[in-house]
Amino acid sequence: MEAENIESMTLDSVKNFVEEAIEDLVLEKISSPLDRPVMSIARDVLLGGGKRYRPILAILAYKAAGGKDHREVLDLALSSELIHTATLVHDDVYDQSKMRRGKPTIHTTHGISHAIISGDYLFALGFEFGAKYDERVTGKVRDKCAGIASGEIRQFEHIHDLNTSPEDYYEIIDGKTAGPFAYGCSSAAMIAGSNEEIFNALESYGMELGRAFQLVDDILDLIGDDLIGKPRGTDVHEGKMTLPIIYALTMLHGTDREHLKDVLTNFGDDRLHELVELLERAGSFEYGKLLVSNHVERALAHIETLPASDEKDLLREIAMISESRTN
Ligand code: IPE
Ligand code: IPE
Ligand code: MG
Ligand code: MG
Repeated sequence: MEAENIESMTLDSVKNFVEEAIEDLVLEKISSPLDRPVMSIARDVLLGGGKRYRPILAILAYKAAGGKDHREVLDLALSSELIHTATLVHDDVYDQSKMRRGKPTIHTTHGISHAIISGDYLFALGFEFGAKYDERVTGKVRDKCAGIASGEIRQFEHIHDLNTSPEDYYEIIDGKTAGPFAYGCSSAAMIAGSNEEIFNALESYGMELGRAFQLVDDILDLIGDDLIGKPRGTDVHEGKMTLPIIYALTMLHGTDREHLKDVLTNFGDDRLHELVELLERAGSFEYGKLLVSNHVERALAHIETLPASDEKDLLREIAMISESRTN
């Protein structure tokens, strides 16, 4: 691996370090006759401008937990991004999403079979990197994959289910997003050889940040701008019961509630505006943003007792940036 140094610890420099490592990996695999056919298909989504939160968090958590040489955690960082990207490729098949990271999804350009195979390949690569550590870390990588798979399955169970509760919602997002954030942070702490207190603090930080992150993603699906690289309204098309919708179904009554049910069950792009208006009337976005702030606040509180470091400051910064994405 060519990528070696992070010049000064800023979110941009850590992201550049990760970016270079991913580019090196893609180059290496594309030059191998064994990997080339599948990596040629997976390359675009891997290099397609993801935010790289998971690998960045792995590096920051490792250093904040007392790790000395960030190269020691690079394989875990790569593993997180590879597995995450694998889940996106598959998730886009389940969700029938057309765009990902600003580009057409693999199943749109190459068909479903190629998307499944490319996703499997990215999973295998991700697991290979995660298995470079001891079995406790590999166990966390496994738990992360199980959580994502179960979260997606639970989500399917609630498609178009207007009785979905906030508890159901949290169960889904803890599996598919918050758990992976949590395990990513705590396994980085493990690699750093941290004590149990720091390990727990970072795992809880990751969990709260992951909840905030998915809530923001679900809010942006309704009111985000084009910069998010995926079209708005995808969740509604798919009948996903995200928190703004669950909340509005509780808050609205009478004709407003009937109207909301009608928009949800007979949804089309031309009705997004109507839906957003109803959700605004219900106070769904304010409520969603309040929950995001609460989770971010809790995330910050969990790492308060960590020893002072630049990386601890960056963990704080990344949490605050996540929160500000809905502004
Ligand atoms: C998308 O994740 C899926 C969610 C868990 C919301 P990201 O928003 O991190 O996607 P990329 O990696 O930046 O494309
Ligand atoms: C997150 O859920 C997907 C995974 C964690 C696999 P979403 O379905 O909300 O992600 P996007 O919106 O497609 O990026
Ligand atoms: Mg999706
Ligand atoms: Mg989404």
